[in-house]
Amino acid sequence: MLPPRLNLAQRPTPLQPLERLSARLGGPTIWVKRDDLTGSVLSGNKVRKLEFTLAQAQAERCDTIITCGGLQSNHCRATALLCAQLGFHCILVLRGETDAPFDGNLLLDWLAGAEIRHFPVARYQHHLPELLAQAVTDCRARGQRPFVIPTGASDGIGVWGYIAACEELRDDFIGAGISPRHIICASGSGGTQAGLSAGVMLHGIDATVWGVAVCDDAAYFQRKVRSDLEDWQKRYQTTLDLDSLNVRVLDSYIGPGYAKASAQVFETIGEAARLEGLVLDPVYTGKAFHGLLKELQAGRFDDSNDIVFIHTGGVFGLFPQRDQFIY
Ligand SMILES: Cc1ncc(COP(=O)(O)O)c(C=O)c1O
Repeated sequence: MLPPRLNLAQRPTPLQPLERLSARLGGPTIWVKRDDLTGSVLSGNKVRKLEFTLAQAQAERCDTIITCGGLQSNHCRATALLCAQLGFHCILVLRGETDAPFDGNLLLDWLAGAEIRHFPVARYQHHLPELLAQAVTDCRARGQRPFVIPTGASDGIGVWGYIAACEELRDDFIGAGISPRHIICASGSGGTQAGLSAGVMLHGIDATVWGVAVCDDAAYFQRKVRSDLEDWQKRYQTTLDLDSLNVRVLDSYIGPGYAKASAQVFETIGEAARLEGLVLDPVYTGKAFHGLLKELQAGRFDDSNDIVFIHTGGVFGLFPQRDQFIY
């Protein structure tokens, strides 16, 4: 069964080699799939997932989207802007205090007219299902028809985003004349890695997908990737052999915690910007790219002439952390 889909991302995104950085490291050529170019304010991986998720909300004749995340959630920002574009009302359940600076993604959420509900971290962490249920109840009381999107749009619907992206990647690889054996992405809620993992199998790409964890440990992501794909199988009666799936997670690069990066990650962000004009963020792509460089130096990807990093966006998360750069 094929899912409904909207055409929201600027596709195909470019696949570009990082020639200077790769030469400096002396190993395989690092290619970047520029999913930070899926749109200007719609930059990043979420818009690929939301093409399917919001199409489903339309198919169910909903008029209000409820979703959740951190104060600087890229997913919430992309959802808020797409809701404005498509004429949905948007409610964001956010983890963090109301006196947080109006910066980065949060500024764009507000600009897009989202109804923002803030909750202190502990309350959010322990009561998210109730907070979402309350938003649903409030919508219904107002005569609205709500559709709830889970964290990061990572579920059996959202995984289609990166399953479909693998068709694009297959064509990119043919066009560039490369056969990369490794594809690396940041893993936050697991849906991108889940989609890529299924997508390479479905589109005949002979590569291992690696998620670099930015928050939870490898065991968490192994479970999460599988459960998103099980949900996908149940919803769409797909036949992929999930038992043969090898979910590879690198969880040594989380650093001080979610949205907290070490000084080395900020150095890597600076180096990628200066050497390649590639702008990474401290929450997801900077951490993951830093992990990739470390693993590369340790020889993990030596069996391939080319490796691919998925740049999943996140640029607006850079600005609220400007103080972490040493000027
Ligand atoms: C910029 C960026 N990169 C990577 C990720 C991780 O993707 P996923 O949540 O699908 O694991 C996210 C969201 O969590 C993100 O916003």
